[in-house]
Amino acid sequence: MNKTDILLLGSGGRESALAWKISQSPATGKLYIAPGNGGTPQWGENIALSPLDFPAVEKFVRDHGIGMVVVGNEDPLVAGIWDYFNEKMPEVSVVGPSKAGAALEGSKDFAKQFMVRHGIPTARYRSFTAETIEDGYRFLEELKPPYVLKADGLAAGKGVLILPDIKEAKDSLKEMLGGMFGSSSATVVIEEFLSGIECSVFVLSDGNGGYRILPVAKDYKRIGEGDTGPNTGGMGAVSPVPFADDVFMTKVRERIIKPTIDGLISENITYRGFIFLGLINVAGEPMVIEYNVRMGDPETEAVMLRIDSDLVPLMKAAADGNLGSLELLISPEAAVTVMAVSGGYPGSYPKGKVITGTEQITGSILFHAGTTRNAEGQLVTSGGRVIAASSRGNDIEEALQRSFAAVQTLDFEGKYFRRDIGRDVMDWKV
Ligand code: AMP
Ligand code: GLY
Repeated sequence: MNKTDILLLGSGGRESALAWKISQSPATGKLYIAPGNGGTPQWGENIALSPLDFPAVEKFVRDHGIGMVVVGNEDPLVAGIWDYFNEKMPEVSVVGPSKAGAALEGSKDFAKQFMVRHGIPTARYRSFTAETIEDGYRFLEELKPPYVLKADGLAAGKGVLILPDIKEAKDSLKEMLGGMFGSSSATVVIEEFLSGIECSVFVLSDGNGGYRILPVAKDYKRIGEGDTGPNTGGMGAVSPVPFADDVFMTKVRERIIKPTIDGLISENITYRGFIFLGLINVAGEPMVIEYNVRMGDPETEAVMLRIDSDLVPLMKAAADGNLGSLELLISPEAAVTVMAVSGGYPGSYPKGKVITGTEQITGSILFHAGTTRNAEGQLVTSGGRVIAASSRGNDIEEALQRSFAAVQTLDFEGKYFRRDIGRDVMDWKV
């Protein structure tokens, strides 16, 4: 098998899980992670490089004979890294959409228009700017509470406000259009609130109509148990999702995935990478809450454990525009990720806390997110979300117990984790 040297861009738990998976492939030559974190050297070499500095990334790729670039997070994609390489080094396989495709995440207004154009089920909406704020107020009056307001552009996962009353909604619309999220909220999407349970569906697309559906997952966004308190970057994830059964997934494929793939082709938008469908199950009917143009975090930390196939040839084939007959085999086992976070997160939190106990963990894989090494070489915290413990099991319960055991064994001052990960989907089944 021809080996490919691979550069993975990003530094979170998602990139740890991708690095773990990529490093197992016989098709992987050298693996570099830029910038990586305190855990990624287990699987490759960390490179101090900003994924947004395209000329620096290009230089590294040239100097090291990299054959494939896997883009972990959305920022470089929205900024056009695919197009940059397509122009400068078309021989390199870049896993990710073109800038036009990345607008599915980079602009919620674009994503909504795309869904309307292709008849993809999503909440009713309208978009407003400072010039049309009065129309925005009137539209809010047409809707029932709670009110959903979304900054059009990227806002580090914080750009969605869900407000219980009309006065707050109008005030927030004014604040958003006034620059609450900088230029990202110069346009605001207001949409109908949908009630249901969410899940994340990941599709690997080759841009020519070929695609594979990855294991379905569900993440846990809020800091508090019972999904209370402020949003975080994700406190855990489970896969599979019991309600995403064959009947539901057939609807997802026919009503959402195929029209998305076909819509991209019909609009001449090159998309050779992962499509993340944030779905909500409204009384058995899937609807799209959002598109993202990369894998989910922390969903990837569970999903990678359930992919039995070698992901490297699949990513390479997708990036090269031809998935052909390559299979993506999914394990029938369950996988659960529990995130250990710093005390205070998602508010302010201390950094540099020494992490202990990791070497005693055997039944789980630790995907580092916010970790680094201090001057003495000790593993220390460097972010809000510190380490994801991921485990497989015969069912969600078994996988969960292994991940809980792991986050209980590892330790750092102020450690917190949610003890109710997976509870809702397990209860849903009975
Ligand atoms: P997003 O940043 O688009 O993922 O939105 C953040 C979260 O807000 C989603 O994961 C949902 O939980 C919630 N949300 C977004 N849009 C809606 C909607 N139309 N109805 C209900 N909840 C929503
Ligand atoms: N887990 C949600 C996200 O990655 O955006």
